[in-house]
Amino acid sequence: MKAGYSKMFYFMVGLILAVVAFTYLPVIFGISSTVKVVNLNVYSEKLREMLKQYPKKTIEIDKESDKGITFRIHNNNSHVQTVNVEKNPTKGGSSDNTKNTRSKTPKPTVKKEKDFDEEKKVLPTDKPVTPAPTPKKNNVLPDCSDKGSKLVGPLFIDQSIPKDMEAVEKDLSVDFGGTVEKGGKWAPTTCKPKHKVAIIIPYRKRVVQLKSFLKHMHPFLQKQLLDYRIFIIEQLYKDPFNRAGLFNIGFVEALKLDKEFDCFVFTDVDLLPEDDRNFYNCPTSPRHMSVAIDKFHYQLPYATIFGGCGSFLRDDFEKINGFSNLFFGWGGEDDDLYKRVRSYDMEITRPSKQIGRYTMLKDGHHQSSKADPNIISLLQTSEQRMVVDGLNSLKYDVKSVIEAPLVTVVRVELSRSMYNLDV
Ligand code: BGC
Repeated sequence: MKAGYSKMFYFMVGLILAVVAFTYLPVIFGISSTVKVVNLNVYSEKLREMLKQYPKKTIEIDKESDKGITFRIHNNNSHVQTVNVEKNPTKGGSSDNTKNTRSKTPKPTVKKEKDFDEEKKVLPTDKPVTPAPTPKKNNVLPDCSDKGSKLVGPLFIDQSIPKDMEAVEKDLSVDFGGTVEKGGKWAPTTCKPKHKVAIIIPYRKRVVQLKSFLKHMHPFLQKQLLDYRIFIIEQLYKDPFNRAGLFNIGFVEALKLDKEFDCFVFTDVDLLPEDDRNFYNCPTSPRHMSVAIDKFHYQLPYATIFGGCGSFLRDDFEKINGFSNLFFGWGGEDDDLYKRVRSYDMEITRPSKQIGRYTMLKDGHHQSSKADPNIISLLQTSEQRMVVDGLNSLKYDVKSVIEAPLVTVVRVELSRSMYNLDV
Protein backbone atom coordinates (compact mmCIF):
# COMPACT_ATOMS: atom_id res chain seq x y z
CA MET A 1 0.00 0.00 0.00
CA LYS A 2 2.92 2.30 0.90
CA ALA A 3 4.72 1.39 -2.27
CA GLY A 4 1.53 1.97 -4.41
CA TYR A 5 1.01 5.38 -2.78
CA SER A 6 4.59 6.41 -3.47
CA LYS A 7 4.38 5.29 -7.18
CA MET A 8 1.21 7.29 -7.63
CA PHE A 9 2.83 10.30 -5.89
CA TYR A 10 5.87 10.29 -8.22
CA PHE A 11 3.62 9.82 -11.28
CA MET A 12 1.48 12.84 -10.30
CA VAL A 13 4.54 15.06 -9.60
CA GLY A 14 6.05 14.02 -12.93
CA LEU A 15 2.81 14.79 -14.73
CA ILE A 16 2.54 18.23 -13.12
CA LEU A 17 6.19 19.01 -13.97
CA ALA A 18 5.65 17.94 -17.58
CA VAL A 19 2.59 20.18 -17.94
CA VAL A 20 4.46 23.13 -16.39
CA ALA A 21 7.48 22.56 -18.61
CA PHE A 22 5.36 22.26 -21.75
CA THR A 23 3.52 25.48 -20.93
CA TYR A 24 6.25 27.80 -19.65
CA LEU A 25 9.65 26.68 -20.94
CA PRO A 26 9.06 28.02 -24.50
CA VAL A 27 8.22 31.38 -23.01
CA ILE A 28 11.26 31.34 -20.70
CA PHE A 29 13.54 30.56 -23.67
CA GLY A 30 11.82 33.04 -25.99
CA ILE A 31 9.93 30.53 -28.09
CA SER A 32 6.24 31.02 -28.41
CA SER A 33 4.13 27.95 -28.18
CA THR A 34 1.84 29.50 -30.74
CA VAL A 35 4.42 30.52 -33.44
CA LYS A 36 3.43 28.93 -36.71
CA VAL A 37 5.91 27.88 -39.35
CA VAL A 38 5.98 30.62 -41.98
CA ASN A 39 7.89 30.69 -45.26
CA LEU A 40 9.72 33.97 -44.71
CA ASN A 41 11.00 34.06 -48.28
CA VAL A 42 7.65 35.32 -49.48
CA TYR A 43 7.98 38.36 -47.21
CA SER A 44 10.24 41.34 -47.44
CA GLU A 45 13.79 41.67 -46.27
CA LYS A 46 12.44 44.15 -43.78
CA LEU A 47 10.33 41.51 -42.13
CA ARG A 48 13.34 39.33 -41.55
CA GLU A 49 15.19 42.34 -40.17
CA MET A 50 12.27 43.01 -37.86
CA LEU A 51 12.15 39.46 -36.61
CA LYS A 52 15.84 39.62 -35.72
CA GLN A 53 15.03 42.46 -33.36
CA TYR A 54 12.80 40.38 -31.13
CA PRO A 55 15.00 37.43 -30.17
CA LYS A 56 13.82 37.29 -26.61
CA LYS A 57 10.23 38.15 -27.23
CA THR A 58 7.25 36.23 -28.34
CA ILE A 59 6.11 36.78 -31.86
CA GLU A 60 2.72 35.39 -32.55
CA ILE A 61 1.12 35.17 -35.92
CA ASP A 62 -2.26 36.71 -35.59
CA LYS A 63 -3.59 36.35 -39.14
CA GLU A 64 -2.13 35.29 -42.45
CA SER A 65 -3.99 36.07 -45.61
CA ASP A 66 -3.29 36.36 -49.36
CA LYS A 67 -2.24 39.94 -48.83
CA GLY A 68 0.16 39.43 -45.98
CA ILE A 69 0.64 38.64 -42.37
CA THR A 70 -0.26 40.25 -39.02
CA PHE A 71 1.99 39.63 -36.06
CA ARG A 72 1.38 40.13 -32.40
CA ILE A 73 4.58 40.92 -30.55
CA HIS A 74 4.69 40.17 -26.80
CA ASN A 75 7.31 42.13 -24.90
CA ASN A 76 8.67 41.22 -21.46
CA ASN A 77 6.30 43.58 -19.71
CA SER A 78 3.17 42.27 -21.41
CA HIS A 79 3.28 45.03 -23.98
CA VAL A 80 1.56 43.86 -27.15
CA GLN A 81 2.06 45.31 -30.59
CA THR A 82 0.64 44.34 -33.94
CA VAL A 83 2.70 44.58 -37.10
CA ASN A 84 1.33 44.14 -40.62
CA VAL A 85 3.68 43.11 -43.39
CA GLU A 86 2.61 42.68 -46.99
CA LYS A 87 3.45 39.53 -48.88
CA ASN A 88 5.83 39.90 -51.84
CA PRO A 89 5.94 43.68 -51.67
CA THR A 90 6.75 45.43 -54.91
CA LYS A 91 10.06 47.34 -55.06
CA GLY A 92 9.98 50.18 -52.56
CA GLY A 93 6.36 49.49 -51.78
CA SER A 94 6.52 47.37 -48.67
CA SER A 95 4.15 48.68 -46.10
CA ASP A 96 5.25 47.75 -42.64
CA ASN A 97 2.52 49.16 -40.54
CA THR A 98 3.27 49.13 -36.86
CA LYS A 99 0.54 49.90 -34.38
CA ASN A 100 0.79 50.05 -30.57
CA THR A 101 -2.02 48.43 -28.68
CA ARG A 102 -0.50 49.69 -25.40
CA SER A 103 1.58 52.78 -25.55
CA LYS A 104 4.15 53.10 -22.74
CA THR A 105 7.18 51.42 -24.33
CA PRO A 106 8.94 52.86 -27.43
CA LYS A 107 7.81 51.80 -30.89
CA PRO A 108 9.68 48.86 -32.39
CA THR A 109 12.47 50.19 -34.60
CA VAL A 110 11.57 48.76 -37.96
CA LYS A 111 14.68 49.95 -39.82
CA LYS A 112 13.92 52.75 -42.17
CA GLU A 113 15.73 56.09 -42.08
CA LYS A 114 18.04 54.75 -39.38
CA ASP A 115 20.04 52.78 -41.91
CA PHE A 116 20.30 55.85 -44.08
CA ASP A 117 21.42 58.09 -41.20
CA GLU A 118 24.11 55.69 -40.19
CA GLU A 119 25.32 55.52 -43.76
CA LYS A 120 25.47 59.29 -43.94
CA LYS A 121 27.66 59.47 -40.84
CA VAL A 122 30.49 57.61 -42.52
CA LEU A 123 30.37 59.73 -45.67
CA PRO A 124 32.22 63.06 -45.89
CA THR A 125 29.63 65.74 -45.35
CA ASP A 126 31.41 68.55 -47.20
CA LYS A 127 31.58 66.91 -50.63
CA PRO A 128 28.64 65.37 -52.49
CA VAL A 129 29.28 61.80 -53.55
CA THR A 130 27.63 62.29 -56.90
CA PRO A 131 28.36 65.41 -58.99
CA ALA A 132 25.88 68.19 -58.46
CA PRO A 133 23.28 68.27 -61.23
CA THR A 134 23.95 70.93 -63.85
CA PRO A 135 21.67 73.86 -63.11
CA LYS A 136 18.93 74.16 -65.68
CA LYS A 137 19.01 77.21 -67.89
CA ASN A 138 16.69 79.58 -66.21
CA ASN A 139 14.92 81.75 -68.70
CA VAL A 140 13.24 83.78 -66.02
CA LEU A 141 16.52 85.24 -64.70
CA PRO A 142 16.59 89.02 -64.82
CA ASP A 143 18.60 90.77 -67.50
CA CYS A 144 22.16 91.45 -66.22
CA SER A 145 21.94 95.07 -67.34
CA ASP A 146 19.07 95.53 -64.85
CA LYS A 147 21.07 94.13 -61.96
CA GLY A 148 22.35 96.51 -59.32
CA SER A 149 25.80 97.39 -60.60
CA LYS A 150 28.98 96.98 -58.58
CA LEU A 151 30.94 99.09 -61.03
CA VAL A 152 33.09 101.77 -59.49
CA GLY A 153 34.38 103.73 -62.49
CA PRO A 154 38.12 104.56 -62.43
CA LEU A 155 40.33 101.65 -61.38
CA PHE A 156 43.74 101.28 -59.83
CA ILE A 157 46.04 99.61 -62.34
CA ASP A 158 48.50 97.31 -60.65
CA GLN A 159 51.53 97.19 -62.92
CA SER A 160 53.59 94.91 -60.71
CA ILE A 161 54.46 91.77 -62.64
CA PRO A 162 53.03 88.57 -61.17
CA LYS A 163 55.80 86.12 -60.25
CA ASP A 164 54.61 83.44 -62.64
CA MET A 165 51.44 82.25 -64.31
CA GLU A 166 50.81 79.82 -61.46
CA ALA A 167 50.61 82.73 -59.03
CA VAL A 168 47.83 84.28 -61.15
CA GLU A 169 46.09 80.92 -61.45
CA LYS A 170 46.19 80.53 -57.66
CA ASP A 171 44.34 83.82 -57.35
CA LEU A 172 41.67 83.19 -59.97
CA SER A 173 41.23 79.60 -61.13
CA VAL A 174 38.47 77.31 -59.84
CA ASP A 175 41.23 74.73 -59.33
CA PHE A 176 42.40 76.88 -56.41
CA GLY A 177 38.99 78.00 -55.14
CA GLY A 178 38.66 80.96 -57.52
CA THR A 179 35.95 81.64 -60.08
CA VAL A 180 37.53 81.28 -63.53
CA GLU A 181 36.81 77.99 -65.25
CA LYS A 182 39.18 75.98 -67.40
CA GLY A 183 39.76 77.67 -70.75
CA GLY A 184 39.40 81.14 -69.15
CA LYS A 185 35.63 81.34 -68.97
CA TRP A 186 33.01 82.57 -66.57
CA ALA A 187 29.32 83.49 -66.61
CA PRO A 188 27.04 85.02 -63.99
CA THR A 189 24.46 82.73 -62.37
CA THR A 190 22.15 85.37 -60.93
CA CYS A 191 21.21 87.12 -64.17
CA LYS A 192 21.07 86.56 -67.90
CA PRO A 193 23.79 88.41 -69.85
CA LYS A 194 22.82 90.05 -73.11
CA HIS A 195 25.67 88.49 -75.09
CA LYS A 196 28.10 85.63 -75.07
CA VAL A 197 31.48 87.29 -75.52
CA ALA A 198 34.71 85.92 -77.00
CA ILE A 199 37.74 88.04 -76.07
CA ILE A 200 40.36 87.46 -78.79
CA ILE A 201 44.04 88.34 -78.33
CA PRO A 202 46.69 87.97 -81.04
CA TYR A 203 49.81 86.69 -79.34
CA ARG A 204 53.48 85.95 -79.65
CA LYS A 205 56.03 85.77 -76.82
CA ARG A 206 54.39 88.24 -74.43
CA VAL A 207 54.00 86.08 -71.35
CA VAL A 208 54.89 88.93 -68.96
CA GLN A 209 52.02 91.00 -70.37
CA LEU A 210 49.67 88.05 -70.54
CA LYS A 211 50.03 87.48 -66.77
CA SER A 212 49.12 91.11 -66.04
CA PHE A 213 46.30 91.06 -68.58
CA LEU A 214 44.63 87.96 -67.13
CA LYS A 215 45.08 89.19 -63.56
CA HIS A 216 43.39 92.49 -64.43
CA MET A 217 40.78 91.34 -66.93
CA HIS A 218 39.09 88.39 -65.24
CA PRO A 219 37.88 90.41 -62.22
CA PHE A 220 37.06 93.32 -64.56
CA LEU A 221 34.87 91.21 -66.87
CA GLN A 222 33.15 89.48 -63.97
CA LYS A 223 32.23 92.78 -62.37
CA GLN A 224 30.55 93.66 -65.65
CA LEU A 225 28.51 90.41 -65.30
CA LEU A 226 29.57 89.11 -68.71
CA ASP A 227 29.33 85.60 -70.06
CA TYR A 228 32.83 85.44 -71.57
CA ARG A 229 35.84 83.38 -72.55
CA ILE A 230 39.38 84.62 -73.23
CA PHE A 231 41.36 83.24 -76.18
CA ILE A 232 44.95 83.83 -77.17
CA ILE A 233 45.81 83.04 -80.77
CA GLU A 234 49.53 82.40 -80.89
CA GLN A 235 51.39 82.70 -84.15
CA LEU A 236 54.20 80.12 -84.23
CA TYR A 237 57.43 80.19 -86.26
CA LYS A 238 59.22 83.06 -87.93
CA ASP A 239 56.88 84.86 -90.30
CA PRO A 240 56.12 88.51 -89.51
CA PHE A 241 53.33 88.93 -86.98
CA ASN A 242 49.90 89.09 -88.61
CA ARG A 243 47.65 90.72 -86.00
CA ALA A 244 44.57 90.91 -88.24
CA GLY A 245 44.91 87.33 -89.49
CA LEU A 246 45.13 86.11 -85.89
CA PHE A 247 41.92 87.98 -85.03
CA ASN A 248 40.16 86.26 -87.93
CA ILE A 249 41.45 82.88 -86.75
CA GLY A 250 40.26 83.65 -83.22
CA PHE A 251 36.79 84.47 -84.53
CA VAL A 252 36.55 81.17 -86.45
CA GLU A 253 38.11 78.98 -83.75
CA ALA A 254 35.97 80.48 -80.97
CA LEU A 255 32.83 79.68 -82.92
CA LYS A 256 34.06 76.14 -83.50
CA LEU A 257 34.22 75.72 -79.73
CA ASP A 258 30.92 77.48 -79.02
CA LYS A 259 28.62 78.65 -81.78
CA GLU A 260 26.69 80.80 -79.31
CA PHE A 261 29.32 83.56 -79.23
CA ASP A 262 27.60 86.61 -80.64
CA CYS A 263 29.96 89.40 -79.52
CA PHE A 264 33.70 89.57 -80.21
CA VAL A 265 36.21 91.84 -78.51
CA PHE A 266 39.51 92.15 -80.39
CA THR A 267 42.24 93.46 -78.13
CA ASP A 268 46.00 93.70 -77.80
CA VAL A 269 47.48 91.93 -74.79
CA ASP A 270 49.21 95.04 -73.46
CA LEU A 271 46.06 97.15 -73.01
CA LEU A 272 44.43 97.35 -69.58
CA PRO A 273 41.18 99.34 -69.30
CA GLU A 274 41.25 101.90 -66.52
CA ASP A 275 37.49 102.28 -66.05
CA ASP A 276 35.04 99.45 -65.44
CA ARG A 277 32.20 101.31 -67.17
CA ASN A 278 33.94 100.56 -70.50
CA PHE A 279 31.80 97.58 -71.44
CA TYR A 280 33.30 94.54 -73.16
CA ASN A 281 29.93 93.29 -74.42
CA CYS A 282 29.04 95.08 -77.67
CA PRO A 283 26.71 97.79 -76.31
CA THR A 284 26.95 99.13 -79.88
CA SER A 285 28.63 97.63 -82.93
CA PRO A 286 31.18 98.25 -84.29
CA ARG A 287 32.83 99.94 -81.34
CA HIS A 288 36.30 101.35 -80.77
CA MET A 289 37.09 101.12 -77.08
CA SER A 290 40.73 102.18 -76.57
CA VAL A 291 40.03 105.87 -77.03
CA ALA A 292 42.48 107.36 -74.57
CA ILE A 293 45.74 105.43 -74.06
CA ASP A 294 48.42 106.70 -71.67
CA LYS A 295 51.06 106.16 -74.37
CA PHE A 296 49.22 108.75 -76.53
CA HIS A 297 48.70 111.11 -73.56
CA TYR A 298 45.08 109.96 -73.29
CA GLN A 299 44.24 111.49 -76.70
CA LEU A 300 43.17 109.94 -79.98
CA PRO A 301 46.24 110.09 -82.23
CA TYR A 302 43.96 110.62 -85.26
CA ALA A 303 40.19 110.60 -85.78
CA THR A 304 39.88 107.40 -87.83
CA ILE A 305 42.11 105.19 -85.68
CA PHE A 306 40.60 101.77 -85.00
CA GLY A 307 43.58 100.04 -83.32
CA GLY A 308 44.11 98.72 -79.78
CA CYS A 309 40.79 97.37 -78.62
CA GLY A 310 37.43 97.18 -80.41
CA SER A 311 34.33 95.03 -80.58
CA PHE A 312 31.82 93.70 -83.11
CA LEU A 313 28.59 91.80 -83.05
CA ARG A 314 29.10 88.55 -84.93
CA ASP A 315 26.78 89.55 -87.78
CA ASP A 316 28.53 92.88 -88.34
CA PHE A 317 31.96 91.25 -88.39
CA GLU A 318 30.78 88.69 -90.93
CA LYS A 319 29.17 91.41 -93.03
CA ILE A 320 32.52 93.14 -93.56
CA ASN A 321 34.28 89.77 -94.13
CA GLY A 322 36.41 90.29 -91.00
CA PHE A 323 39.91 91.74 -91.20
CA SER A 324 42.23 91.51 -94.16
CA ASN A 325 44.63 88.54 -94.00
CA LEU A 326 47.39 90.23 -95.96
CA PHE A 327 49.04 92.54 -93.40
CA PHE A 328 52.21 90.75 -92.23
CA GLY A 329 54.24 93.08 -89.99
CA TRP A 330 53.40 96.15 -87.98
CA GLY A 331 50.57 98.61 -88.79
CA GLY A 332 47.84 99.33 -91.29
CA GLU A 333 45.46 96.42 -90.62
CA ASP A 334 43.25 98.52 -88.31
CA ASP A 335 43.12 101.36 -90.84
CA ASP A 336 42.04 98.82 -93.43
CA LEU A 337 39.30 97.61 -91.06
CA TYR A 338 38.10 101.16 -90.58
CA LYS A 339 37.66 101.47 -94.35
CA ARG A 340 35.68 98.23 -94.51
CA VAL A 341 33.30 99.42 -91.81
CA ARG A 342 32.81 102.79 -93.44
CA SER A 343 32.18 101.27 -96.86
CA TYR A 344 29.10 99.59 -95.33
CA ASP A 345 28.00 102.90 -93.84
CA MET A 346 28.32 101.47 -90.36
CA GLU A 347 29.01 103.99 -87.62
CA ILE A 348 31.84 103.30 -85.23
CA THR A 349 30.96 104.39 -81.71
CA ARG A 350 33.35 105.15 -78.87
CA PRO A 351 33.07 105.60 -75.12
CA SER A 352 34.00 109.01 -73.75
CA LYS A 353 37.64 109.92 -73.11
CA GLN A 354 37.00 109.52 -69.38
CA ILE A 355 35.65 106.00 -69.72
CA GLY A 356 37.74 104.77 -72.67
CA ARG A 357 41.04 105.20 -70.78
CA TYR A 358 43.80 102.58 -70.99
CA THR A 359 47.20 101.80 -69.57
CA MET A 360 49.59 100.28 -72.10
CA LEU A 361 51.93 97.86 -70.31
CA LYS A 362 55.54 98.88 -70.63
CA ASP A 363 57.21 95.69 -69.43
CA GLY A 364 57.55 92.70 -71.66
CA HIS A 365 57.71 94.56 -74.96
CA HIS A 366 60.24 93.04 -77.26
CA GLN A 367 61.30 94.35 -80.65
CA SER A 368 58.10 95.20 -82.54
CA SER A 369 57.64 93.71 -85.97
CA LYS A 370 58.90 95.85 -88.82
CA ALA A 371 56.22 97.79 -90.67
CA ASP A 372 54.69 95.93 -93.56
CA PRO A 373 56.33 97.44 -96.68
CA ASN A 374 53.06 96.96 -98.59
CA ILE A 375 50.92 99.08 -96.23
CA ILE A 376 50.40 101.97 -98.61
CA SER A 377 49.42 99.88 -101.63
CA LEU A 378 47.18 97.66 -99.52
CA LEU A 379 45.37 100.65 -98.02
CA GLN A 380 44.71 101.96 -101.53
CA THR A 381 42.70 98.84 -102.37
CA SER A 382 40.84 98.21 -99.09
CA GLU A 383 37.31 98.49 -100.49
CA GLN A 384 37.99 96.38 -103.59
CA ARG A 385 39.79 93.63 -101.66
CA MET A 386 37.34 93.32 -98.81
CA VAL A 387 34.97 90.92 -100.59
CA VAL A 388 37.74 88.45 -101.42
CA ASP A 389 40.25 89.03 -98.61
CA GLY A 390 39.06 88.17 -95.12
CA LEU A 391 37.09 85.45 -93.37
CA ASN A 392 36.26 83.85 -96.72
CA SER A 393 39.93 83.48 -97.74
CA LEU A 394 41.48 82.64 -94.37
CA LYS A 395 44.32 80.09 -94.40
CA TYR A 396 46.14 78.68 -91.39
CA ASP A 397 47.05 75.44 -89.65
CA VAL A 398 46.01 74.80 -86.07
CA LYS A 399 48.84 73.11 -84.20
CA SER A 400 47.07 72.81 -80.84
CA VAL A 401 44.12 74.06 -78.81
CA ILE A 402 44.78 74.02 -75.07
CA GLU A 403 42.30 74.87 -72.35
CA ALA A 404 44.67 76.40 -69.79
CA PRO A 405 43.25 77.34 -66.37
CA LEU A 406 42.77 81.02 -67.25
CA VAL A 407 42.74 81.14 -71.05
CA THR A 408 42.16 79.05 -74.17
CA VAL A 409 45.38 78.90 -76.19
CA VAL A 410 45.13 78.30 -79.93
CA ARG A 411 48.56 77.79 -81.55
CA VAL A 412 48.70 78.24 -85.28
CA GLU A 413 50.97 78.38 -88.26
CA LEU A 414 50.19 81.45 -90.35
CA SER A 415 52.66 82.35 -93.05
CA ARG A 416 53.03 84.60 -96.06
CA SER A 417 53.54 81.58 -98.30
CA MET A 418 49.99 80.44 -97.54
CA TYR A 419 48.82 83.57 -99.39
CA ASN A 420 51.43 83.32 -102.15
CA LEU A 421 53.14 86.44 -100.84
CA ASP A 422 56.89 86.85 -101.35
CA VAL A 423 58.78 85.25 -98.52
C1 BGC B 1 49.06 102.42 -87.94
C2 BGC B 1 48.04 101.76 -87.09
C3 BGC B 1 48.33 102.02 -85.65
C4 BGC B 1 48.45 103.47 -85.38
C5 BGC B 1 48.78 103.79 -83.95
C6 BGC B 1 49.16 103.89 -87.59
O1 BGC B 1 50.17 104.50 -88.33
O2 BGC B 1 48.75 102.29 -89.30
O3 BGC B 1 48.04 100.39 -87.37
O4 BGC B 1 47.28 101.50 -84.87
O5 BGC B 1 49.46 104.02 -86.22
O6 BGC B 1 49.98 103.21 -83.56
